[in-house]
Amino acid sequence: MLRIAYVNGRYVEHADATVHIEDRGYQFADGVYEVCEVARGYIVDVKRHLDRLNRSLTELRIDWPLHRSALQIVMAEVVRRNRVRNGLVYLQVTRGVSPRDHFFPPAGTRSALVVTSKRTDPVAALARAEKGLAVITVPENRWERVDIKTTGLLPNVLARQQAREAGAYEAWFVDPDGTVKEGAATNAWIVTRDGVLVTRPAESGILRGITRTTLFEVATKLGLSIEERGFTVDEAKQAREAFITAATAVVLPIVTIDGQPVANGHPGSLALSLRHAFFDVAEKIPA
Ligand code: PDD
Repeated sequence: MLRIAYVNGRYVEHADATVHIEDRGYQFADGVYEVCEVARGYIVDVKRHLDRLNRSLTELRIDWPLHRSALQIVMAEVVRRNRVRNGLVYLQVTRGVSPRDHFFPPAGTRSALVVTSKRTDPVAALARAEKGLAVITVPENRWERVDIKTTGLLPNVLARQQAREAGAYEAWFVDPDGTVKEGAATNAWIVTRDGVLVTRPAESGILRGITRTTLFEVATKLGLSIEERGFTVDEAKQAREAFITAATAVVLPIVTIDGQPVANGHPGSLALSLRHAFFDVAEKIPA
């Protein structure tokens, strides 16, 4: 089946989808992105993702490439044209195409938009969740504005590759005082011995994950309490459970940190319950 991408106003074959060599995303990582989960034919939490896109664009003074409602229609159309029932829809907005110059391009330069969608395997994802994952820790080396979802992800790319080479799925960025920030592409959580969920505040220093935000509602529905505070790598190793959240992962239990088991080294039951209840609570818009 042909894969289709949306590139600056046109639906094109994915294999032929290209952007200009002077796209500022390509030259400066001068762009932002969003990734939404597609589950059972629905786009999950699209309103929250587009709210965050608006924040990212505003912080970087990049114009919306389309009206928000039109963008939402394009996202659904790309999902439909690729016949994705379970998978992801990716969108990227850059400051547009202009001769290379660090200054912003001239007024009137249109921001550039790419939307793609791909399938993922829900059976494999569930198997991964039921097995649990390994994380490694790496020193925080990113800029301060990681609250903006920019395509400038080089530290994240290097950290994730380091994780893979160590046989792990994710790398947690850690501050010099031992506090866990977040994963290279996920938010980090633990469950205390008393069954309280703990995740770091998202006012600054991490990306405010949409899955994280919705999980607060899932936790409330399950009668669980959440503490928003920092936790250290040592606390995470001693915790009852640890897990990560992202649109690409929903909720995935962590069973080892730097090779040391979390609790008994098995996936936590609360993490799996949260994963199970997530879809019922999240906003779902048919694609
Ligand atoms: N990553 N923290 C970072 C650094 C991320 O890149 C992501 C998402 C998250 C979780 O955010 P959300 O719940 O909104 O997906 C946290 C996406 C999925 C990616 O880069 O592929």
